[in-house]
Amino acid sequence: MLLLAAAFLVAFVLLLYMVSPLISPKPLALPGAHVVVTGGSSGIGKCIAIECYKQGAFITLVARNEDKLLQAKKEIEKHSINDKQVVLCISVDVSQDYSQVENVIKQAQEKLGPVDMLVNCAGMSLSGKFEDLEVSTFERLMSVNYLGSVYPSRAVITTMKERRVGRIVFVSSQAGQLGLFGFTAYSSSKFAIRGLAEALQMEVKPYNVYVTVAYPPDTDTPGFAEENKTKPLETRLISETVSVCKPEQVAKQIVKDAIQGNFNSSIGSDGYMLSSLTCGMAPVTSITEGLQQVVTMGLFRTIALFYLGSFDSIVRRCMTQRAKSEIADKTA
Ligand SMILES: NC(=O)c1ccc[n+]([C@@H]2O[C@H](COP(=O)([O-])OP(=O)(O)OC[C@H]3O[C@@H](n4cnc5c(N)ncnc54)[C@H](OP(=O)(O)O)[C@@H]3O)[C@@H](O)[C@H]2O)c1
Repeated sequence: MLLLAAAFLVAFVLLLYMVSPLISPKPLALPGAHVVVTGGSSGIGKCIAIECYKQGAFITLVARNEDKLLQAKKEIEKHSINDKQVVLCISVDVSQDYSQVENVIKQAQEKLGPVDMLVNCAGMSLSGKFEDLEVSTFERLMSVNYLGSVYPSRAVITTMKERRVGRIVFVSSQAGQLGLFGFTAYSSSKFAIRGLAEALQMEVKPYNVYVTVAYPPDTDTPGFAEENKTKPLETRLISETVSVCKPEQVAKQIVKDAIQGNFNSSIGSDGYMLSSLTCGMAPVTSITEGLQQVVTMGLFRTIALFYLGSFDSIVRRCMTQRAKSEIADKTA
């Protein structure tokens, strides 16, 4: 009897795995598609643009600095697969004025056609202890990381819904899945993206528009190098418990998940664990994904508790070290 029940369970799970692709979104065809990448002149955004271009897409790069945009354009064009492909550059601050962002998206659509995929990658990180961060830092990060994703998405969504086709990618961060020492301003701006994406996905799914939230780990980019200059010791030591990824690897995974219409995009085994652990009420795009989350949740929570314990002990060690050096300074 027990054997029969086990065989039935295995057969049921196999059946779910087989049916799963049938209810998943139809992959987006990138050849000839128009992909807009905000933050496309550097780091992860530039690698996403290259990845899409290699697959035959037309690209609009959006960022502020014109020289960096032109340099990135040249780099991307080296990867063309046909002579019709175009890389368009648009200089705008995505976080300041909605009408400006709406205008430049309109210009891009006039030149390269309706946007098939929007990648919201423009963003920045600033870290520091809560009481050391200026209040303006919270406002700035919310403005760039959150509103800088709202504005371009708002500018493309109507056309995507009308055409019944589209992908919107939000580049959050692993710090948008768990709050870490030093990231009170950054984490909250990246958590906000998740709320936006979940609500938006529920609205646009009936129109065949799919949303992806990417949660990159530490990635070797100019932005990461800049961020490291001012990171508190605790934040640096916690970050060092996992390895730094290459932007090309991160970009490949994000583009793959966006094409598939996967809601969640994570990198590596840490990323997989964190995403399963923090899935909450996030949508799933396949039965297999949901099944894996159900099965692994308890185990991953147990592992996570060990991680949290080790992060706490890093913070305590740093405090003790600081206290000792303060005493030494005073007695010297
Ligand atoms: N690198 C990491 O470790 C890591 C990890 C997790 C998540 N992320 C996220 O991934 C995204 C890309 O990070 P990255 O490390 O590749 O950064 P990066 O190398 O500094 O590139 C940032 C890009 O965003 C543009 N940008 C910044 N602010 C903008 C604004 N207000 N308006 C328009 N464009 C703007 C920059 O160009 P201009 O300065 O010329 O405007 C640049 O093209 C960010 O959202 C970041 O939070 C990064």
